Amino acid sequence: MYNDPDFDEFSLYDLQHEDDPMMLLDDAMLEGLMLDGLDYDGYGMEPPELMLDVPYVPSDEKIVDALLDLAGVTSRDLLYDLGCGDGRIVVAAAMQRSARAVGIDLDPARIADAMEYAGNCQVERWVDFREGDLLEADFSNATVVTLYLLDSVNLELRPRLQQELQPGTRIVSHAFDMGDWKPDEHVRLASINLYKWIVPARLAGQWQWHSACGKEFVVDLKQKHQKLSGTARIDGQPAQLQRALLQGDLVELQISSAEHNTPYTFTMRYRDGLLQPQDPAMQPAAAQPVTD
Ligand SMILES: C[S@@+](CC[C@H](N)C(=O)[O-])C[C@H]1O[C@@H](n2cnc3c(N)ncnc32)[C@H](O)[C@@H]1O
Repeated sequence: MYNDPDFDEFSLYDLQHEDDPMMLLDDAMLEGLMLDGLDYDGYGMEPPELMLDVPYVPSDEKIVDALLDLAGVTSRDLLYDLGCGDGRIVVAAAMQRSARAVGIDLDPARIADAMEYAGNCQVERWVDFREGDLLEADFSNATVVTLYLLDSVNLELRPRLQQELQPGTRIVSHAFDMGDWKPDEHVRLASINLYKWIVPARLAGQWQWHSACGKEFVVDLKQKHQKLSGTARIDGQPAQLQRALLQGDLVELQISSAEHNTPYTFTMRYRDGLLQPQDPAMQPAAAQPVTD
């Protein structure tokens, strides 16, 4: 399908993790560090115009399919491929899933290739290719983000992914993870790792609501990425937050007390700063953040 180098024998992960000193690229080169430190004037050289954070190594066709499957891309999605190369993920999302998709790449040659490829596949109406720096680009309206970058670039991007994307947005990455932000799903295809994260709503702090039976619930939540923990009170009395599960914008809180045999379970969805009840028979109104 693609007019590519022999990528079966050649992956970005191998390049970064290869022990052989004869390999073309080492970590420092991959991250542009060797170029950053050079005194170009002293050598009578012009600095290179293009400082890529990641070299161009295309994803294999099977990996492209697996990434789209892992993200569950459908016609309702707007996919962004950050560092899109020749546009194969973007075009596949449009052709195979009828999704709209945007590719961003710093290298104008890649953008030209990607536009040509989209034209050949007759999906120009569904795709958009933008020349620019993925570390500065606006991708906030994405519902799916695909990455084939490096550990270091994923980590640099991570705060923006968590803060700027809507809760529930899926992020999938070929080969590289996100440090201590553990993936919600991890699959292996032959020797290649693929990771998926669901952007979690940001729920740290105090929340207060009433149950249908008129009891007042207050929880004080701590959050590390998608993991919640914390304390609870019912009508001002200490209670136990037995379970706090968060996936995207959906949260389930299970709270027990000495007076009540079965724990109370509340399922809520984060919307516009409130936690909207999913079962109004259990919880008639939204949980509100408690501000001092
Ligand atoms: C490993 S390739 C991945 C290509 C494509 N996503 C795929 O999986 O086939 C990384 C791409 O990122 C681009 N790139 C590197 N640094 C970039 C930056 N700062 N901003 C935008 N694109 C960048 C490179 O030009 C290259 O096309």
